[in-house]
Amino acid sequence: MDRAVELELVDELLSLKEGKGAYLDDAVGHNPVAHYTSEQRFSEEREHIFSVVPTAAAHVSEMPSPGDFLRREIAGQPVLLTRDKEGKANAFLNVCRHRGTRLVDAKKGCQHRFSCPYHAWPYSSVGDLIAAPHFKTGFTGHDKSTLGLKRLDCQERFGFVWVTLNPDASHPVEDHFRGLSADLDALQLDDMVIAHQDTHTRHANWKILVEGGIEAYHFKIAHRSTIGPHFEDNLSSYQRFGSHIRSILPRTSLSTLPKAEQGNWRLRDHAQILYTLFPSTQLLVQQDHVVWLTEEPVSPDQTRLRLSTLVPKHAADQGDHWAQNHHITLTTLDEDFVIGESIQSTLSSGANEDMLFGRFEGALNVFNQTIAAHLPTSG
Ligand code: FES
Ligand SMILES: [Fe+2]
Repeated sequence: MDRAVELELVDELLSLKEGKGAYLDDAVGHNPVAHYTSEQRFSEEREHIFSVVPTAAAHVSEMPSPGDFLRREIAGQPVLLTRDKEGKANAFLNVCRHRGTRLVDAKKGCQHRFSCPYHAWPYSSVGDLIAAPHFKTGFTGHDKSTLGLKRLDCQERFGFVWVTLNPDASHPVEDHFRGLSADLDALQLDDMVIAHQDTHTRHANWKILVEGGIEAYHFKIAHRSTIGPHFEDNLSSYQRFGSHIRSILPRTSLSTLPKAEQGNWRLRDHAQILYTLFPSTQLLVQQDHVVWLTEEPVSPDQTRLRLSTLVPKHAADQGDHWAQNHHITLTTLDEDFVIGESIQSTLSSGANEDMLFGRFEGALNVFNQTIAAHLPTSG
């Protein structure tokens, strides 16, 4: 982030603290509870958001070499990522073109040839159908060259492999992140590796889990025995970049920094910087590493979370340090996820028709307005 912007953000937060104020939106936000439970809403979100927006399907370090492959799921669809002989990343529907068997079952591996487990149709890492047993005899009038794997838009940028499911929606990833490119480049994510990764499913709508991270109202309460004491009470700011949000959540150490030494510290040392990349990729910038979180919707009330601790390549050998940090992140975020499940479990009680977003929870309102703007039926 630009230094002048960092200093502006700091000044803004410090004057709010001094005046015992908060970063306030103009009005309280209301979001219908049905948006977190409705099947129709869920399938609209899949179709109009998750299928058309680039998804961070993998970090580049998960498939660094030719032949590396990964199995993923995007908006409920089976996806195969490969790195071909030229070193380029590709994405395909992980579906055999004969009768639809899932082509690859392994979660990851390294090979350039993928043979279907049913009748052994073999595909290359660029998706071509190479040969097929008894093809000429059995499939007269059919051309192998038209039976390659269905290709998906796949671009590498900012250290991630981005996949867009809907072929009509593909556009440069660069455009999708207009306004944020400099911030993302500065994180040097392509020079990082994953020190630890955890995947687990939570019984909560994906939006509840995203929302859990973008306000500081709960810090001193829900995180009282973990990170709460290190953060200011109910103090945070946010900025919009198109559909994306950057949140700044200051630590208590920020207010004690001598003005004269401004050149010697970085914002990330004294605040949590959280990028919520629309719809559900979150990058939590810590002092010496970045936590990469994805919330993949499984059903209206289930979400698969992937939490990765990304660390600089040159420091990857500090095993204990990263293990400890990953553990702290897991413990802290678990406090959010348990609350998220608690919220989901009460939604059908009828106690609330709307979620209320206080004026200092404005980022939640913006996030939900952005979602609504993508959908045909919500205004
Ligand atoms: S379904 Fe894949 S080869 Fe038959
Ligand atoms: Fe939290």
